[in-house]
Amino acid sequence: MEPNIAEEFEFNETEKVVFDQIRVWLNDRCGMYYPDKKQELLFNRLLRVCKNYSFNDLSELLANLHADDSVEIQLAVMSAASTNHTYFFREPQSLDYYRDVILPSLEDGDNRIWSAAASSGDEAYTIAMITAEQRGMAWTKQNFTLLGTDISAPVIVKAEKGIYKNAHLEHVPPHIFHNYFEKTGENQHRVNADIRRLCTFRRMNLKNYPYPFQGQFDIVFCRNVLYYFEEETQAQIVENLYNVTKSGGWLLTCVTGSLRYLKTSWIPVANGIYRKY
Ligand SMILES: C[S@@+](CC[C@H](N)C(=O)[O-])C[C@H]1O[C@@H](n2cnc3c(N)ncnc32)[C@H](O)[C@@H]1O
Repeated sequence: MEPNIAEEFEFNETEKVVFDQIRVWLNDRCGMYYPDKKQELLFNRLLRVCKNYSFNDLSELLANLHADDSVEIQLAVMSAASTNHTYFFREPQSLDYYRDVILPSLEDGDNRIWSAAASSGDEAYTIAMITAEQRGMAWTKQNFTLLGTDISAPVIVKAEKGIYKNAHLEHVPPHIFHNYFEKTGENQHRVNADIRRLCTFRRMNLKNYPYPFQGQFDIVFCRNVLYYFEEETQAQIVENLYNVTKSGGWLLTCVTGSLRYLKTSWIPVANGIYRKY
């Protein structure tokens, strides 16, 4: 039976109440904040979950979200609600800072990097490629590991595969493209095995504090995600990032995602770059 949901963006009063309950759940549970002006986007994303699970309406979705065995539906809603847009060599200003200032300062040893909202892995592999290119693959294999995490399970699967449509690769410099990608089919390439082995991916909700790591990180990339959260959640997340970073370590946010208005222990050192002293 076809789900009985209007294709158009139209709420009746009951739907609006249910919709708002899901919106509150997303904010409380994942920190994902959908203001009124973005409710059509969220509505359409929820509609897709309803269709996939043959739910008749948002009430049925909400009931399943709160059911005892709801993990699968919860993950589906989190994934549908998240915006995964990303690509290789995005926002070169912070990548250049990493290459020119941070990377030369890394000493031999266990350098642990975290891509904290990794999406399909483009950012993580970009960082690994820059590192291998600057410090050499032998040094990188010996001294560098990268963890990529994201709330959405499907993007983590994609990151682990490391296969990308060419549209994700448009900003990759030619020598990097030549050194670290292999053609795997029409219009797509795969990150080579050496780079893939440097990166591990896991599903993780940035809103679940404290973070479950045994050791601390040297560098945390948390780009293009903080602005999806309300200010209070942003502040909590950046403090939790601080707690899992080594003294002297770094935080790289996106250049437009300034922490200037947040009460934070991080010391700003450049646009979108922070340090723990
Ligand atoms: C726009 S992408 C950014 C990817 C990459 N960092 C970049 O700058 O290109 C934002 C990612 O944040 C993830 N995300 C959203 N809320 C999250 C949360 N509470 N915990 C972990 N990841 C989350 C989304 O699933 C999405 O993949």
